Amino acid sequence: PLAWSGLIQAYRQYLPVTESTPVVTLLEGNTPLIPAPAIANEIGKGVRVWVKYDGLNPTGSFKDRGMTMAISKAKEAGAKAVICASTGNTSAAAAAYARRGGMRAFVIVPDGYVALGKLAQALVYGGEVLAINGNFDQALDIVRELAQNYPVTLVNSVNPYRIEGQKTAAFEIVDNLGEAPDWLCIPVGNAGNITAYWKGFCQYKEQGKCDRTPRMMGFQAAGASPLVTGKVFQHPETIATAIRIGNPASWEQAVAAQQESKGEFNSVTDEEILSAYRLLASQEGIFCEPASAASVAGLLKVKDRVPAGATVVCVLTGNGLKDPDTAIKHCNNQLIQGIEPKLEAVAEVMGF
Ligand code: F0G
Repeated sequence: PLAWSGLIQAYRQYLPVTESTPVVTLLEGNTPLIPAPAIANEIGKGVRVWVKYDGLNPTGSFKDRGMTMAISKAKEAGAKAVICASTGNTSAAAAAYARRGGMRAFVIVPDGYVALGKLAQALVYGGEVLAINGNFDQALDIVRELAQNYPVTLVNSVNPYRIEGQKTAAFEIVDNLGEAPDWLCIPVGNAGNITAYWKGFCQYKEQGKCDRTPRMMGFQAAGASPLVTGKVFQHPETIATAIRIGNPASWEQAVAAQQESKGEFNSVTDEEILSAYRLLASQEGIFCEPASAASVAGLLKVKDRVPAGATVVCVLTGNGLKDPDTAIKHCNNQLIQGIEPKLEAVAEVMGF
């Protein structure tokens, strides 16, 4: 088989690139669609469940899909600097791709609410990281205005090239399954990704690559669930800091995806998120970040409504290694310490 050359190369015919677009890639995409038998077992009824593990992208999240496109197009347009607001993952991806493309990367983050691994990434990749005493929604307002007034390209998902890149995840799911799933469960924050997936499924159906499109099932954290309640959250709060967003930029597009697909928005509590997070890691062997586990928590919450024999894909948007603090604090397991460095002492602790 040919080596994977990144998603722009693989899906070039569906993307707004030309031969002269300078492709900035870290060979993102082509992430595994992994069967999840423990989750399927919780549901029963012959339901089959897979997870799209996008935490295996180069910087550890689905943002790489959007960023290879946004940065390649920024480079094509001659940009010298990019900017984004971020709860963490966008900042890591923007910094990595911008630096690789020879550009400056400014990232604005909510101080104290970015997982440790993401902050480390943004810094080590060479991003210029500015922490505001405010939340993501405020940071997004600021960068939108900055990009209008200064020579810096906005690479949040309001940049249409981000959506173009991210829709390729839907293509990959159909390419793997040979058809679209019945349900697509996805965590929703700023609502770019649900918009992108819906675009991808619709486009693939138009092209005859699948006969149907899935019901789009979007899940938000209860403390940050504007799409569920229909109201902006001025003070969004959740342990899933990646989706700690009160006023999603792609609100209308997300509602359109939900309505056109006959899908739903539902909320999950932090406790439900953490229990799905632990189940994924300790029973499926898949370590995702808390925000990602919202897709599985949501599926389990509405499991009575999954049709018998349905195929379901849950999107796992980011890698668990991004947020080691939450992992250690909430994993219901602990390091066994203070053991004498002797075989007998170790064996005794093991219960032999
Ligand atoms: N999952 C993870 C791990 C995320 O980082 C995000 C968004 C989402 C889900 C939600 O995706 O915003 O397209 O609805 N993270 C953004 C960021 C906000 O700045 O990294 P969405």
